[in-house]
Amino acid sequence: MLIFESIVSLQQYLKKKRENTSKIGFVPTMGALHEGHLALLKQAKQENDLVVCSIYVNPTQFDNQEDLTHYPRTLAADTEKLKYIQCDVLFAPTNIEMYPTPSLVAFSFGHLDKVMEGQYRAGHFSGMATVVAKFFNIVQPDTAYFGQKDLQQYLIVDQLIKSLSFPIQLVRHPIVREADGLAMSSRNRRLSPAQRAKAPKLYEALQLAADWLPKAAIVEVKRRTQEFLLQAEGPKVEYFEIAHGHTLEALTTYQPNTPTALCIAAFLGDVRLIDNLLLH
Ligand code: PAJ
Repeated sequence: MLIFESIVSLQQYLKKKRENTSKIGFVPTMGALHEGHLALLKQAKQENDLVVCSIYVNPTQFDNQEDLTHYPRTLAADTEKLKYIQCDVLFAPTNIEMYPTPSLVAFSFGHLDKVMEGQYRAGHFSGMATVVAKFFNIVQPDTAYFGQKDLQQYLIVDQLIKSLSFPIQLVRHPIVREADGLAMSSRNRRLSPAQRAKAPKLYEALQLAADWLPKAAIVEVKRRTQEFLLQAEGPKVEYFEIAHGHTLEALTTYQPNTPTALCIAAFLGDVRLIDNLLLH
């Protein structure tokens, strides 16, 4: 695996590769790699001639300085995992390389970035879209892989690609879960054993809500779901929304043929977890 820190040297390498018409797949990450990330990379390996993974903890998408400071950084272990699955290229730039001057651009995605994560994490999606657009320009991949774990992020990247005419095929990978249902996340490693034991309640709550949806009104499903988590002394809910799976507009009634997203964010101590279910 080749490792690049500099944009110019990565671009020189990829330019040569493109002469042999290689199909380039790209998986952007913030590192602390787990099986969820690796699943995206494995799919990219199967569908492309060359796979580029980026590891960069992007400061412009953190609204909370504490969260940025505590974000796990495990580059040596990540490098080993990437070599093991035969990732071709790792791009791990520094802050100066990515932001030689302070970032002044801002993105807006209408309703998509106002709700849920956008409501609770000010500026998060503008910063995310900024760094993803920069990566798309730097790597110029044919395909890019994003996880459904961050459904809202996926939908916004889809919008970004369409808005700015990036010639990139976007691929959504399903959520990879632990055996007990907890969605894999770099933040899970911050859970204490007691918190970890409660964490699967989040997915359980989503599954219960999905079962209730055809039989009860949406307000009632939301109430019961919140009550279930309270009674189970599970994660403390920040939001739980039942929305259209493409636009994230809140749904007032459930229709089996409408793409429906159940999205939840909750805290265990100061660790914030998100999860979702997509129903079609
Ligand atoms: P990060 O949280 O490291 O996630 C990188 C990619 O892995 C994202 O597309 C995310 O949705 C996916 N992913 C994480 N956990 C997953 C799981 N359990 N199952 C499936 N996919 C999973 O998302 C980011 O980084 C950043 O915002 C980034 C796009 C890199 C921009 O900075």
